[in-house]
Parts: sequence; C-alpha cells; structure tokens
Amino acid sequence: MAELELLNQIRTKASERKKTVVLPESHDERVLRAAEILVKENVAKVVTIGEEEKVRSDAEGYGLDLTGIRIIDPAKSELLSDFSNVFFNLRKHKGITIEQARETMQRDLFFGAMMVREGHADGFVAGSVASTGDVLRAAIQCVGMPEGISIVSSFFLMIYPEITYSFADCAVVPDPDASQLADIAISTAVNHSKLTGEEAYVAMLSFSTKGSAKHELIDKVIEATNIIKEKRPDIKVDGELQFDAAIIDAIGKKKSPGSEVAGRANVLVFPDLNAGNIGYKIAQRLGGAEAVGPVVQGLKKPLFDLSRGCSVDDIVNTSAISCLMAE
Ligand SMILES: CC(C)(COP(=O)(O)OP(=O)(O)OC[C@H]1O[C@@H](n2cnc3c(N)ncnc32)[C@H](O)[C@@H]1OP(=O)(O)O)[C@@H](O)C(=O)NCCC(=O)NCCS
Repeated sequence: MAELELLNQIRTKASERKKTVVLPESHDERVLRAAEILVKENVAKVVTIGEEEKVRSDAEGYGLDLTGIRIIDPAKSELLSDFSNVFFNLRKHKGITIEQARETMQRDLFFGAMMVREGHADGFVAGSVASTGDVLRAAIQCVGMPEGISIVSSFFLMIYPEITYSFADCAVVPDPDASQLADIAISTAVNHSKLTGEEAYVAMLSFSTKGSAKHELIDKVIEATNIIKEKRPDIKVDGELQFDAAIIDAIGKKKSPGSEVAGRANVLVFPDLNAGNIGYKIAQRLGGAEAVGPVVQGLKKPLFDLSRGCSVDDIVNTSAISCLMAE
C-alpha cells in the first residue's frame, strides 16, 4: 500500500474513533498548525499545554484558528494537585518529595503524559522540541508499561508501493536482552496488524539462518524466538533468519524450508539498536522506503516521540496513529 493511501486510511480510521490527543509543545509553531488541522479535519480532539494568553497570541501571529482546542496551563489547572499526588505515589520509592512531584507536574511533558495516564486524553505526541530521552522519561515515569511487557521500544512503518514492513527497534533500546527482544517483537507484531490491518509475519533477524553460523550474538536471537513462541503461540514467528531469507520467497524456502514466515516476513526485528537504526536508514535512503515513526510502543497508553526535524504533517499523522492505538 503506498504511503499516502495508508496515511489517509489511518487519518480516516482515527476520525471515526473521536479520541483526544495532547500536544504539549504549544510553543512550537508546527504543533499549533498540526492542532488546527487535526480539529478542522475532525481527526481528533486536541489539548495543548501552555500559558493560554501566550498560546492564543502566538496562534494569532501565525494566522491560526484555535477554535475547539483546549489550552491548559499546568500551574493554574485544577488537575495539578491530583496529578502531583499521583506522581508522588508513583515515584516515592525513588526518594521524591511532594514538592518535587508538584514541580515536575508543572513541566509540559510530564503534565501531558499524566493527562493520558489519568484518562483526560487518549494519546500524546511530543518531541518536535524536546529530545527523545526527555519525552520517553516522561512517558515511562508517568504511564509505564502494562503487565507482561518489560520494555518500552519503537518501530518504524517502512512503506513501499507494494508492501509495508514494520522494522523494530530502530530508535529506543540500545542492547535488549533475549526477553526484551521477544517483547519488542510481540509489541511490534500486534501494532503492525493494528495499523496495516494485515497479519504479522515476524522475522527475528541475524547474520545466520537456522544454524548456518554459530555465535553468542545469534544465541540471543534464538532464545528470543523461543520466548515468543512460548509466550504468544498465536504469533507467526521464525528465527534466526538473515534479511534475505526473511523477505525473499525463493531464499526463504531454500534456507528455512517449511517455515510459514521465511520469505514473507512483514515484521523485521533487529538484534540491537546499531543494526536497527542503520538498517532502517539504509532501507529509507538507498531502498526508497517512506519511513513513518518511530512509533513508541510498550507503554500502557499511546505516547509518541517525534523527530525534531518533523513536519506539520508528521505531527498530524503521528497523532492519528496514537488515536488508532488507544484503547
Ligand atoms: C529510554 C531512555 C530515555 C532511558 O534513559 P535513562 O533515563 O537514562 O535510563 P536509565 O537506565 O537511567 O533508567 C531510568 C529509568 O527508566 C527505566 N527505563 C530505561 N529504559 C527503559 C525502557 N526502554 N523501557 C522501560 N523502562 C526503561 C529504567 O528501568 C529506570 O527505571 P526507574 O527510574 O523506575 O528505576 C534512553 O534509553 C534513551 O534515551 N533511549 C533513546 C536512544 C536514542 O537516543 N535514540 C535516538 C535514535 S533515533
């Protein structure tokens, strides 16, 4: 499915769900432009965080109409006191005081993340200004992971005219152990199906296919594959597989005979962040794929990180994805 078609489909599906997205970085012009589009095109309801007067005068300066967009100033919000108590209880084992919790909750990213935790918004999109680390820390500390998931990770939708792959993890976890790698694969398989509507065929990538080489780096991939089979027997997975055996039918048949996945994988799980980050950039820059993401996963709720070079469209699309991934 080509990029535009898939993204239009995602925006349309999102608008049917009538979800609320919080965009905390109201001081960024791109964010306010995206907020206007989301509301005008009925993709989602929008909350932004900041000093109301400043946000409104910025918007006026950009010629934007913020009708229908809620602006919340954490310092003046009636939610601040509840949010501070919730955050204090979440982090008191780390030695945080209630005053520190109140200070943290006045930061845009943390207040926005807490809105999602507490059900005042369904999705969160930030990172056009803040770094990946800052966005993820707010998400991990406020929202955390559901039972059974050990790690927050990410994937990219890699869109070619004929097929869409999901590549993981290319942006968050530097060196996952076998059980974390298994969780990355499971989350990506579930989200690939949610976003593309297609069944996931998961390849656990390595420089070896089914014992063609031996090394401790390969052992991690084999162990992760076994963990997935045990934890989620419903997911179609094969490993360890080389990239060509994963996606080229003839090579998959030859190198992993009888496999339901080899040769037709659409979820490609890299063994670590070196491989994943280099791999997705090669597919994007030399292979001509449109890369959408990173889509952050493994959190209880959909909180997403943008690249600081993102466009207004990227913010709108990521917001729409967050609506689809919300319960
Ligand atoms: C996720 C990230 C922000 C965590 O960094 P950090 O805060 O320095 O991590 P620490 O190891 O000090 O751990 C801090 C806490 O977060 C938790 N944590 C760290 N990474 C985690 C992850 N991926 N999933 C879940 N929890 C995680 C730790 O368990 C710890 O929890 P605690 O405070 O309750 O004890 C960091 O791995 C990161 O910045 N990743 C992005 C890499 C990057 O730059 N990518 C850009 C390429 S596109």
